[in-house]
Amino acid sequence: MKFSFYNPTRLIFGARCVSKLGEAAASYGSMALLVTGRGSVKRSGAFERAVESLKTAGVSFVECEGVEPNPRISTVRRGAEMIRRHRCDLVVALGGGSVMDAAKVMAAAALYEGDPWDMMYVRGRKPRLPDKALPVITVPTLAATGSEMNEGAVISSDELKVKTFVEAECLFPRVAVVDPELTLSVPRDHTAYGVSDIIAHLTEGYFNGVDGTPIQDGFAEAALRTVIRWGRVAVEDGSSLEARTQVQWASVVALNGWVQVGTRAYFPVHMMEHTLSALHDVPHGAGLAVLNPAWMSFAAPSRVEKFAAFARNVMEVQDRDDGSAAEEGIRRLREFLASIGCPSRISDMVDSPLEPVDYARATLDVAGDERGLLRGRPHMDLSDLEGIFK
Ligand code: NZQ
Ligand code: ZN
Repeated sequence: MKFSFYNPTRLIFGARCVSKLGEAAASYGSMALLVTGRGSVKRSGAFERAVESLKTAGVSFVECEGVEPNPRISTVRRGAEMIRRHRCDLVVALGGGSVMDAAKVMAAAALYEGDPWDMMYVRGRKPRLPDKALPVITVPTLAATGSEMNEGAVISSDELKVKTFVEAECLFPRVAVVDPELTLSVPRDHTAYGVSDIIAHLTEGYFNGVDGTPIQDGFAEAALRTVIRWGRVAVEDGSSLEARTQVQWASVVALNGWVQVGTRAYFPVHMMEHTLSALHDVPHGAGLAVLNPAWMSFAAPSRVEKFAAFARNVMEVQDRDDGSAAEEGIRRLREFLASIGCPSRISDMVDSPLEPVDYARATLDVAGDERGLLRGRPHMDLSDLEGIFK
């Protein structure tokens, strides 16, 4: 194993810790762009609590509201313009992954020469990564993406019908204020999609990394068992603070880099899901619930011991034969996702799905060639990809 690991985000975690937002913000600036979505934070009371904390600490703000799920580059441009116009010196993101991602890119875009779409990874061109950004503080209200404590953001372009990502060190939030109470109001469907997303972050790292990472495997298995156990409770009883807390913590660790340290993991299922969200605007975790088990069935034969380990250590499969244990593990995962209300097929989410080959081509167009997209094991070609979208 060889690696270098860096994550500079200070994490403040626990019920009611949103009251610490103001103090955290005051150490980075005095005029914040407060980024929010389409109103959930106003209805839940999260906005009021965040604003009270900012005011008590003497931090002024201007609100950039209306960030849409699967945030658009046009919204990023609007936020960057507001930062310049109001001379903001800090960005506070209060919302789900969409709000946090948009806020992170706004913070970089305000100091960037050129158009922020140039930062984004798209096949066939080298992204011009940002090297500076205003300080960002994330306050997640939905447990899913891990964006609160990582250097990534995922943005869509309506004109290009593309959804893709940027990763840059300057996008790490300075502080993540993670208060699980703020997730009590997340409806059942988005709670389930968040669970599906957390599971996918962990399984992508687990199955798509190098061999010889027993510590990381153990971290991933523990986080998977936790999110499956408590995710079910959070879906069934949204008011359970214990369940919300465990799922929120799982979401942070699943994608803050720590679980995947040294694995050199890649994320093929995420690349495929971006296609579904770009073409149909479906929630990320819903798309993953369809594609992740389908991808696993394709990949299991080429790494059967690892899939058998997942089945036994996470899905409680007893079977001694690796091949049938692996299959049973995937079947149980699919069943779990369906039981919490996630879709199982593209047609469960989309009225008129395209042909599988169209999704496969669109994925390759953005993410790279067959081996670029799915380097490592197993190699896929267009027909394999097509099979996963069936
Ligand atoms: O817009 P509002 O009104 O806030 O409503 C949202 C939205 O409708 C609602 N919601 C959020 N918090 C709530 C709430 N409703 C009630 N109570 C609350 N406390 O939930 C809906 C979905 O929100 P969204 O932010 O879109 O969901 P999520 O957190 O799953 O974020 C998804 C986005 O993050 C990207 C995805 O691709 C997608 O664009 N990802 C970002 C990653 C990263 N930066 O590292 C990694 C992930 O793999 C993912 O790709
Ligand atoms: Zn994800």
